[in-house]
Amino acid sequence: MTLEHLGIAVRDLSAATDLYRRLLGADPYKTETVATEKVTTVFFRTGESKVELLVGTAPDSPISKFIEKKGEGIHHVAFGVADIRAEMARLRAEGFELLSEEPKPGADNKLVCFVHPRSAGGVLVELCQERG
Ligand code: CO
Repeated sequence: MTLEHLGIAVRDLSAATDLYRRLLGADPYKTETVATEKVTTVFFRTGESKVELLVGTAPDSPISKFIEKKGEGIHHVAFGVADIRAEMARLRAEGFELLSEEPKPGADNKLVCFVHPRSAGGVLVELCQERG
């Protein structure tokens, strides 16, 4: 696995984009809305990894709910894998609780699956595989 990106939940995407532009000294390379997840994302490259800013597009978006409960900040840690189905099976066998039975289309041309924080030491973990 590689550390693919950090997901950061934000209230105001344009303010956060400006903040990270100044923090990282670089422009984002992609903005994308994932309608099924009710999020809009902005991606920055940070060496081999990335930072993903996430804003909810509706009050019932998982990101909007997260911010309501916990405030802005780190939302998930994403690990890149070569074979997401094999990793899902391996993690299930290890006793991790996955949030979906099958990988789902995610942002940045990925297939993704999340691991419930209650089975992963309080951290929401995303597995992601490049979609060919
Ligand atoms: Co992510």
